[in-house]
Amino acid sequence: MFNFDFYNPTRVLFGQGRIKDIDRRIPADARVMVLYGGGSIKTNGTLSEVLTALGTRHVIEFGGIEPNPSYETLIQAVSLAKQHNINFLLAVGGGSVIDGSKFVAAASCYQGEATEILQSRGSKIKQALPLGVVLTLSATGSEMNSAAVITQKAIKTKSAFFSERVFPAFAVLDPTKTYTLSKHQIANGVVDAFVHITEQYLTYSVNGLVQDRFAEGLLQTLLEIGETALAEPENYDLRSNLMWVATMALNGLIGAGVPQDWSTHGIGHELTALYDIDHARTLAIVLPAMLMERKEQKHAKLLQYAQRVWNIHEGDDTERVIQAVEKTRLFFERLGVPTRLSAYGVTDIQPILSQLANHQLTALGEHRDINLAVSERVLLNCL
Ligand code: NZQ
Ligand code: ZN
Repeated sequence: MFNFDFYNPTRVLFGQGRIKDIDRRIPADARVMVLYGGGSIKTNGTLSEVLTALGTRHVIEFGGIEPNPSYETLIQAVSLAKQHNINFLLAVGGGSVIDGSKFVAAASCYQGEATEILQSRGSKIKQALPLGVVLTLSATGSEMNSAAVITQKAIKTKSAFFSERVFPAFAVLDPTKTYTLSKHQIANGVVDAFVHITEQYLTYSVNGLVQDRFAEGLLQTLLEIGETALAEPENYDLRSNLMWVATMALNGLIGAGVPQDWSTHGIGHELTALYDIDHARTLAIVLPAMLMERKEQKHAKLLQYAQRVWNIHEGDDTERVIQAVEKTRLFFERLGVPTRLSAYGVTDIQPILSQLANHQLTALGEHRDINLAVSERVLLNCL
């Protein structure tokens, strides 16, 4: 196992009815900005529950954070936060709202041009406003991690930044708040969490026995509940488990001390930036093709995945690996998530390769050897 630091300061407030407990977590004299997306929290009553819990605190709202949150929108929230001397941010929504709020938290305290936060991938962040989260969509893990992904529309660039300063202070995980999600979004969440786990698990072994077993348990849980979580929107047990799996998939635990890949996410972000394909759907397209392309380098782990996660015990080693990858693809398809670029109307991979080159995404993967030629082969197999 590699050496590692494991640090995660986010307090999780899990369960039905927990929104009221934000009252104990936000200073009584805080000046709060509530950030949200396109309005789902207004129609399903979550916003009014949040405002009730905030009581008599000074509160302003900033709505309209779009899926794949943009710098262009968020910078307006930064101005508003400064104008109103805001000293606490409360993100109410899914990964986009949370990521966007992390950017607002950092940019509101940043002395200089806010784009530098993105260019430096977060290393220039010295300070950020405290941030709380009320999660409404199980998928990204952003509610309990230090990452954010922001799109600069002007230059069609989607980039991640990381900083310990933007870990949420707390995250309310009330599974009932996900009941109003569409099947489309639940399916996205299952796929996104699944691929977060594979990016940290399907690499090469460093004898991280705990990390492997955690990862396998989380993957098996997603296989067990994924389809029924779509079919039964108000099943509390299913939605609770989905919420906790997605959080655990990317809060640093399973990735501590083991190699990580993230090539599928790297290529996926370019597909969203170019064609506006939902984040999770880009992963469903790229992952099966990436695993097939890397089946030699990842052989031992893929075989372990076939045996332990999919219970495949027939055929020679190579056949088992291929079966496991094919079953992964079919799982995504059963969730209603198409796994081919052509299903999204994309037939030319050249613009994607150009974007990868422009963004210097030319040495991806756990061995940093996924260059443009390898990405080209992967993308051809995504068509
Ligand atoms: O905007 P509203 O009206 O709220 O509607 C949203 C949005 O249209 C809707 N929604 C959310 N909760 C709902 C709901 N609709 C009904 N009922 C509810 N309870 O769902 C739509 C999608 O929301 P979004 O936040 O965009 O989805 P998700 O959570 O999948 O977030 C995706 C973003 O997270 C980034 C992605 O790149 C993408 O920008 N990621 C962030 C990561 C991180 N910070 O660690 C890691 C991930 O790999 C990912 O890259
Ligand atoms: Zn993701």
